[in-house]
Amino acid sequence: MIGGTLAHLISIKELADVVLFDVVEGLAKGKALDIAQSTSISGSNINLTGTSNYEDTKNSDLIIITAGIPRRPGMSRDDLLETNLKIIKQVAEGIKKTSPKAFVICITNPLDVIVMALQKYSGLPTNMVVGMAGILDSSRFKYFLSQELKVPVKNIDSLVLGGHGDTMVPMPNQTKINGKSLDEIIKKAKLDPIIERTRKGGAEIGKLLQKASAFYAPAASGIEMAESYIKDLKKTLPCAAYLNGEYGVSNLYAGVPVIIGKNGVEKIVQINLSDLEKKQFDISVKAVKDLYKAAKNIDKDL
Ligand code: LAC
Repeated sequence: MIGGTLAHLISIKELADVVLFDVVEGLAKGKALDIAQSTSISGSNINLTGTSNYEDTKNSDLIIITAGIPRRPGMSRDDLLETNLKIIKQVAEGIKKTSPKAFVICITNPLDVIVMALQKYSGLPTNMVVGMAGILDSSRFKYFLSQELKVPVKNIDSLVLGGHGDTMVPMPNQTKINGKSLDEIIKKAKLDPIIERTRKGGAEIGKLLQKASAFYAPAASGIEMAESYIKDLKKTLPCAAYLNGEYGVSNLYAGVPVIIGKNGVEKIVQINLSDLEKKQFDISVKAVKDLYKAAKNIDKDL
C-alpha cells in the first residue's frame, strides 16, 4: 500500500513522472491508471505508468522500494527478514541492470538490515542507497507529543535515531517545543509512555488494520526524502544511512541525521548525544548488528 500512496503524493506534488512496478501482473498498471485518471482533477502534468518489467523502469533517477511482505498483527519487523531478503535480492539485481545511477530509498522491513543488503546486492555507492525510518518515527513521536501537550505539531522539533525497531531512540534532549526544551514542559511519567508508543507505532496501526501495515505516514516520510533529492533542498533528515566511523559505528546502516541533496546522502550530521542517548543508541545499533549477522547466516553473499 505504500507504493501506490507514494505515487499519489508524487502526482499531487507534481514531483516527477512515475513508473509503478510490481511483480503481480496488473496491480501496478491498475494503480497507475487510477492515479493517472485523477490528474485531470488535480491538474498535475505528470506521466504515470505501471509495469512488471524492469526494462520499463530503465534509467530512473530515483527509486523508492516498498517491495516485501508487511507485518501481520503480532509480528515484529525482524520476523520479515528471511522472506524480504530474497525479495530485495531480486530487486537489487533489477536496479543494478537497469538504473545503476539512481538514488534509492528503501522502505522495506526490517529496514536497517534490508537497506544494507540492498546496497551490498546492488553494488550502488553507499551515498546513493538510504533507508526511510527516522522521519516516520520522529513524526510519530511529534504527533503523540502534540496530542498530549495540545501543541500544534509544526511547533515541535524532534529526532528519533538508531535502528527502525523496538530499540529505536526517541531523543527528548533533542526535542524542542516552541523553542523550549522538553523537560521544562512534560514530566517523565507522561513522557515514558509516549516514547514506548512511538517505538510500537507501526505495530499499533497493524493491529488496527489487521490485514496491512501503516502506509500514509511511511509514504509521506519517503516523499520528504525524495523531494529533498529531486529539488536539491539539502534538508537535514533522520534516515538510515551507511556509517563509516560516524557515531562510533562502522560498516553498518543505522538511523542518523543526514543531508539529502542532488548527490544523494551528502553528509552525515554529527550531533552531540547525552550519555543516556549514546547508550540507548549503542543498544539499538547492536540490535541492527545482530540482525545483520542473522541475515549473513541466511545468505552467504552478504
Ligand atoms: C512502520 C513500518 C513502515 O513503522 O515500518 O509503520
